[in-house]
Amino acid sequence: MTTRKFTLTDASTGKTSTLEALSPTVGSDVLNIAPLAKDHGVFTFDPGFMSTAACESKITYIDGDKGILLYRGYPVEQLAAKSSFLEVAYLLIYGELPTAAALKEFTLSITRHTMINESLLRFYNGFHYDAHPMAQVSAVVASMAGFYHDSLDINNPRHREIFAHRIIAKMPTISAAAYKHMLGQPFIYPQNSLDYCSNLLHMFFAVPSEQYVVEPVAAKALDLLLILHADHEQNASTSTVRLAGSTGTNPYAAISSGIAALWGPSHGGANEAVLQMLEEIGTADAIPKFLARVKDKNDHTRLMGFGHRVYKNFDPRAKIIREACHAVLEKVGRPDNPLFELALRLEEIALSDEYFVSRKLYPNVDFYSGIIYSALGIPRDMFTVMFAIARTAGWVAHWQELISDPAMKIGRPRQLYTGPTARQYVDIATR
Ligand code: CMC
Repeated sequence: MTTRKFTLTDASTGKTSTLEALSPTVGSDVLNIAPLAKDHGVFTFDPGFMSTAACESKITYIDGDKGILLYRGYPVEQLAAKSSFLEVAYLLIYGELPTAAALKEFTLSITRHTMINESLLRFYNGFHYDAHPMAQVSAVVASMAGFYHDSLDINNPRHREIFAHRIIAKMPTISAAAYKHMLGQPFIYPQNSLDYCSNLLHMFFAVPSEQYVVEPVAAKALDLLLILHADHEQNASTSTVRLAGSTGTNPYAAISSGIAALWGPSHGGANEAVLQMLEEIGTADAIPKFLARVKDKNDHTRLMGFGHRVYKNFDPRAKIIREACHAVLEKVGRPDNPLFELALRLEEIALSDEYFVSRKLYPNVDFYSGIIYSALGIPRDMFTVMFAIARTAGWVAHWQELISDPAMKIGRPRQLYTGPTARQYVDIATR
């Protein structure tokens, strides 16, 4: 393939330079603008990274126009139908689907790392019962650097691997502890005889006073949601993990910063916001009034769970979840879920509304995920935590890719400064 070249001329000086486009294996070419600052003394300005590729990556590919999502080349639809979350985590981190033996070994390692240091458990008592679980989870994950010293040397591949297994294994435990703290119930220790999602549900819903048997249907539905949320290339939280990681900070600190970024309603917090929105709308006859608010420029209401920075046709994850919603609600015995009915109606009305059509706004993964989570008995406050558990696989894969790249540089964007020019300090008496 011939390299595309772009000639840039500074109209004021006549100086030209040639910029080369870098070709990906699939997707749009990426213009290498590195010579710009050297040749012309200018930086590029791209708020929100609307047109900027911040790194090279081999992990996940999205085609927003065609609604394609590939993890290491495998379509998410195939993984959702045939794989499991732990297999997908392995794929993201190691780059290939595991052999049966490799998967067994990986699963065993994850299973053996599920407990957390007892001192970490005491951290939760420092939180009010009504502290948001994302606050608890991000704090506890950041604190892990104070406990697990055998995984802090970022230049040691074995340390990195121990960290990777440990964080994937412990995220459900850390999250369940936050949930139990909110409820005022005793913490339930992990059960290593259970699979990843059954163990997670057991830690959430079991109490010491009676036996709790996990419904396989619920564990399967959760596994599907975790697969669909496992990675999404350079989204805000992953970019945050990369930026923090680029400073050489320890991996627990990097993941904790990703959890913090995920919390926002424009990102992982959207699943919680969708349910809140559906409850606020209440009934189908209130939809037009709500959509009028969404379309009003002076009102900051958004149709949560709609729109995406990259998908401008449909979000393939939303399609899978929408179908799964029907099946899960049937199987957990709540087929006539009023919020699901309302969501379907809202989707139908929005998709035929010129405002959403002209802006290419479609339901995203989180329009439906909250409905499945609530059908599984997971409370709204915990939705974004569930997202964090899943996305930890992606964050770890990206952090590993970043740290093992010999060309890694600290992430340090430039700015368009519009503040005052240099001025003299004025003594307080004369201000
Ligand atoms: N409701 C109403 N209007 C919207 C929405 C929405 N959900 N999303 C975008 N728009 C409008 C926006 O007002 C703008 O209109 P105009 O051109 O008239 O000013 C236009 O569409 C373009 O929007 P934008 O904000 O420039 O688009 P973006 O790419 O910066 O934002 C987004 C993407 C996901 C932040 C946004 O669509 C949004 O806020 N959606 C709701 C929150 C949500 O569901 N987030 C979850 C994303 S998927 C899970 C994840 O990966 O985290």
